[in-house]
Amino acid sequence: MDKLVVEGGRPLSGTVKVSGAKNAALPLMAASILCGGPLILENLPRLGDLKTMGLLLRHMGGEVDPFWEKPESPAGDSGPDSPLSGPGPVSLDMSSLRLPEAPHELVKTMRASALVLGPLLARFGRARVALPGGCAIGVRPIDMHLKALKEMGTEFDLSGGDIVATAPKGGLRGAEIRFDTVSVTGTENIMMAAALARGRTIISNAAREPEITDTGEALIRMGADIEGLGTDEIVVNGRDSLHGASHRVMPDRIECGTLMAALALAGGRIRLEGAPLECLKAVTEKFAAAGLKVDSEGSVMDLERAEERLRPVDVTTLPYPGFPTDMQAQFMAMMTLASGASIITETIFENRFMHVAELRRLGADITLEGRSAVVKGVAALSGAPLTASDLRASACLLLAALAAGGKSQIHRVYHLDRGYDRLDGKLNLLGARIKRMRA
Ligand code: UD1
Repeated sequence: MDKLVVEGGRPLSGTVKVSGAKNAALPLMAASILCGGPLILENLPRLGDLKTMGLLLRHMGGEVDPFWEKPESPAGDSGPDSPLSGPGPVSLDMSSLRLPEAPHELVKTMRASALVLGPLLARFGRARVALPGGCAIGVRPIDMHLKALKEMGTEFDLSGGDIVATAPKGGLRGAEIRFDTVSVTGTENIMMAAALARGRTIISNAAREPEITDTGEALIRMGADIEGLGTDEIVVNGRDSLHGASHRVMPDRIECGTLMAALALAGGRIRLEGAPLECLKAVTEKFAAAGLKVDSEGSVMDLERAEERLRPVDVTTLPYPGFPTDMQAQFMAMMTLASGASIITETIFENRFMHVAELRRLGADITLEGRSAVVKGVAALSGAPLTASDLRASACLLLAALAAGGKSQIHRVYHLDRGYDRLDGKLNLLGARIKRMRA
């Protein structure tokens, strides 16, 4: 298992490119199950969760280019357009898929594996999917996915930790689905299932995250009939079949926000290329209030810290277009060094403050009060050994370590590698000093 050794206190400079979005790539890969020909995905990031999804699709009998094995150009070689190159166009051909089963060994690390359930049921009328794992940031049930699929006629059994699902004879039926809580993968799962269901499905209280829109747009290219993407009501008229298509995965707004937070913490001046500015409004507003100078043109973002110290800013996480829970930990890292107190409130996941104890080891002053963290900015952090507990927490610790004096070690970085495309490599290109070592 790798660990990172970070030498803090070095300002950042230079240019990096934002990678493709993990949270769009995952449902897009699952969507390939629905089509009769190859789905070609461009701009896939290199990260662990996508390899897991690729192995899962292969296990079921699909043909997936093993993009996780493709050699990357070495850092510094600028490749076609990026110093850390992507794998190029990747073909996913599920026409040979025979085994609609997602076993525990493959899905235990990744909650998004639940995303294959809707597509498998829609195409095969049956599926067996192990109950998913993933980040330990709360209970995170998939009850709403199952309830909605039930309303489309599915019957469920639980056997040996697996969900065994059977669609009615003739296939899933369109239905009027209302989610009690806004759910990102829930909306995606049902939208994909509905694309091949009989009749019309109306999804109300749908999530509006841009990654859902990206997936929906790919489905439309595959021949699906979908309206209302980006609103809280998505209407899908089921088709008999979908065909192959090509799609470019949208850029990762969370990776972009994480790199912005890195600059805010480490100081310096950097340029981010391929930034999805239009879906980062809530984030850039808070960053600007904290004292980050953001200059943008098209998809190019120039960033600089306006003052020596960041200003305290309160944040409450909300579904899109609100401030994303996936940026909460990184923003908290920033606030540990602000010139006053801020309150960070988490409304999406009940247990997403596991980074607090680790930030305190660096000298941060944070008190938890229910779903809020009161962060009193300190003048400096100092390096310490740290343990990452989940994906965004590992990014938060890495960023805090960039700003801390001396050396920090971050253990269990496999969480970081699950969800970021070589974040340490990108930060090193920007002048950080991060060494990856076998622990
Ligand atoms: C997705 C993202 C994740 C992000 C989260 C919230 C992917 C692959 N992951 O996760 O990075 O942090 O959205 O923006 O896109 N819930 C239920 N029952 C359900 C489903 C959800 O109670 O059946 C609850 C969850 O526990 C949570 C809330 O609803 O409290 C929102 O979760 P949801 O939007 O479903 O998160 P994910 O789709 O898992």
